[in-house]
Amino acid sequence: MTEQQKVYPVAEEFAANAWADNETYLSLYQRSVDDPEGFWAEQAESLEWFKTPTKIKNTSFASSNVDIRWFEDGELNASYNCLDRHLETRGDQPAIIWEGDDPSHDKTITYRELHAQVCRLGNALKEMGVGKGDTVTLYMPMIPEAAVAMLACARIGAVHSVVFGGFSPDALAQRVVDAQSRVVITADESVRGGKHVPLKDNVDAALTRDGTDIVEKVLVVQRTGGDIEWHDGRDAWYHEWVERQSSECPAERMNAEDALFILYTSGSTGRPKGLKHTTGGYLLYAALTHRYVFDYHDGEVYWCSADVGWVTGHSYIVYGPLANGATTLMFEGVPSYPSHGRLGEIVDKHGVSILYTSPTAIRALMAHGENIMDSSRRDTLRVLGSVGEPINPEAWSWFHRVIGNSRCPIVDTWWQTETGGIMITPLPGATDLKPGSATRPFFGVQPALLDNDGNLLEGATSGNLVILDSWPGQARTIWNDHERFVQTYFSAYEGVYFTGDGCRRDEDGYYWITGRIDDVLNVSGHRMGTAEIESSLVAHSAVAEAAVVGYPHDIKGQGIYIYVTLSDDAEPSEELRKELTQWVRKDIGPIATPDVIQWAPGLPKTRSGKIMRRILRKIAANECEGLGDTSTLADPSVVDELIEHRANR
Ligand code: WT7
Repeated sequence: MTEQQKVYPVAEEFAANAWADNETYLSLYQRSVDDPEGFWAEQAESLEWFKTPTKIKNTSFASSNVDIRWFEDGELNASYNCLDRHLETRGDQPAIIWEGDDPSHDKTITYRELHAQVCRLGNALKEMGVGKGDTVTLYMPMIPEAAVAMLACARIGAVHSVVFGGFSPDALAQRVVDAQSRVVITADESVRGGKHVPLKDNVDAALTRDGTDIVEKVLVVQRTGGDIEWHDGRDAWYHEWVERQSSECPAERMNAEDALFILYTSGSTGRPKGLKHTTGGYLLYAALTHRYVFDYHDGEVYWCSADVGWVTGHSYIVYGPLANGATTLMFEGVPSYPSHGRLGEIVDKHGVSILYTSPTAIRALMAHGENIMDSSRRDTLRVLGSVGEPINPEAWSWFHRVIGNSRCPIVDTWWQTETGGIMITPLPGATDLKPGSATRPFFGVQPALLDNDGNLLEGATSGNLVILDSWPGQARTIWNDHERFVQTYFSAYEGVYFTGDGCRRDEDGYYWITGRIDDVLNVSGHRMGTAEIESSLVAHSAVAEAAVVGYPHDIKGQGIYIYVTLSDDAEPSEELRKELTQWVRKDIGPIATPDVIQWAPGLPKTRSGKIMRRILRKIAANECEGLGDTSTLADPSVVDELIEHRANR
């Protein structure tokens, strides 16, 4: 039997002690879709509200009126729910365990300490003039101050916009301007794998770009003490500003539908879009999924290895775990430093019970052989999780066998920046696992498969994955661009949320995500728009035209394959290839580094001038047989040229 056909049943002892066994899952799921109002009203009791909501669900997916509201008359504060309400029962329990890049650096912050730090920063932000509804951009390393900053914003009603620390100054500037932040929080440098990244220098560079003069203050955490430039009046040391503040800062009463954060993500066209997540529904959904999907029990150490710059870090390092009073581990470094055994060593050192990571990380480790895990026992592990891209069955079983000692269920969690929390996933005490399948929907989630004409498909089949009705965690709009929100998610098919993913459903009703069906790449679990990379390239004077596609990559899942048509006065050369590679890297960030650049004297276009990406994807994947119908091409001969000089074979 191949790994793909194998089924890993739930162990009885696991089910007996889990938040949900299969029966519980089935009945709660049924209830959640039969009576969403009742179900979510009841779940909402798990949060502490300043004003209990009486209106539960008020949502419309009609393209003429996309309007999503949950708990709309309720009032609460996310920071209060993540901190204050735990103080009496678990004030001295670790809230955050921080593991530094250097294995000899770590620290533990209790709920009481975290509360005080958040209050101090909240007061400092207020002193800077930040108030309810203002946005603050965070460009931070993986240090506790990142979580403190998020929670401090939430506490005073400010809206945070975290920008991943691997993005370039230009990418940062774009996001600062779009969100109109007057304050940026950063650090002198971040440290990953022994290397320093000049975050503050990047902020300085970003703030020379057009439109960024709205920024009045840059608050700088001293992480390494490395050399930085100082702009008097604008720059402020984090430690100086927080130390003089009071450790009491009242949590602002927020409406459930007030914005909690903006998070930028790439789409198939145009610039990154800032998804807006709101307070009540998001927090409830993050907390509930965290508890059920990871079967989190009091006192356990839980570790999500994502970066706080992505939605995974928002929901499953910060908000979900802290709302549940969990101990969340935050790791500054990378799994390969100082050696490839690091992941397991961290598990042993801190007694981690739950490890949530990515297929890319697993595949990168796998390439070094199983001995790399000999430096650890990992016998505290109970649940493993995967997120970000489809996990191939080989990586799944390596994760299960080598990291989890063949003992721990793996939850393969499908979701998106837009969904706020996990949508399709096993529950470890309820769901028999099939490697490579995200299995079944979470409570309140109604997935469906449509054909290209929008017809609902039944039974075992493949199609376009949509969600039929709203769930509390979903993004409400795109910051300053509701029209684009409607266009992107609610216009492909009327009355449903379109995910952009293709999917298969098997005879057991299990879902198997097959990947993006739009022009979005998923490189090492990072989402990137082909249009963004293309527009970066054509800004280079040597480039007349560029087409970007993904191709299968052993470790990254997808690699970036670029076809470049040069301008008349440019000549192809190795040097130019390197220059263009650096150009994109500098423009967007290292995660967008091209893997392959092929010179393309011509691109396959229809007579109306549309690039036929389908053909480019096939050539990049080295699948040159049966390219399908090329008769509609303006000049079919360009295809032969591209095939002849293809780079991946
Ligand atoms: C896209 C969303 C959700 C946090 C990380 C990425 C792909 C995500 C899975 C999975 C197959 C997955 C989808 C999705 N994806 N998780 N378990 N199996 N594909 O968030 O950057 O918003 O990307 O990642 O294609 O649409 P994101």
